[in-house]
Amino acid sequence: MTTEETLAEIATEVEACTKCDLCKNTLHGVPGEGNPEAELFFIGEAPGAVEDRRGRPFVGPAGHLLDELLALIGLDRRSVFITNVVKHRPPDNRDPLPEEISACSDYLTRQIAAINPKVIVTLGRYSMARFFPPTVKISSIHGQARKIDGRIVVAMFHPAAALHRAELRKTIEEDFKRAIPAALAEARRLAAEGKLSQPMEKPKDEPPPQQLTLF
Ligand code: URA
Repeated sequence: MTTEETLAEIATEVEACTKCDLCKNTLHGVPGEGNPEAELFFIGEAPGAVEDRRGRPFVGPAGHLLDELLALIGLDRRSVFITNVVKHRPPDNRDPLPEEISACSDYLTRQIAAINPKVIVTLGRYSMARFFPPTVKISSIHGQARKIDGRIVVAMFHPAAALHRAELRKTIEEDFKRAIPAALAEARRLAAEGKLSQPMEKPKDEPPPQQLTLF
């Protein structure tokens, strides 16, 4: 199966998914979208109201800011892949519950395996928690990169946080400009030396957080 076919299969499953109650009272599953050959893979939290209506990730106010942040580093959403930890909108935009996150986890695992990105950018604490130990606070790790399970993972504040807290906007802009191009350059260097995850290598579902190495 090609990467496109795998992603399309996952999207079809997400649209019909009833693994948890989040699918109730939503209009669409939001599987994610972007370049099947993306080197950069962004993971947000969960779809909001606009995303639920349109079935696409990050197309509301936080998405407009994400587009601006990508433009700051010379990218647009078609060159990267964008998805969320949970694929249906939680009611009233509440935080996703642990059982909803684990019910949805396999979709994200398969998307990462299919695309095999060099760099994963976590947006907010829910996607960060998939890769970093629970004791790590986003306020202390934002804008930093770690090599985890054969990829480079960069933790970022969620763009929605920057919409609510003006002082975070400058921080997230600086983090994007400094950390993402550097992580990509480092990842390309490591890949050329065969030190990153190989295509279609099956990742572990829950990477052990102890295996962190700061580069
Ligand atoms: N916030 C998210 O985390 N994801 C979206 O898709 C939209 C807003």
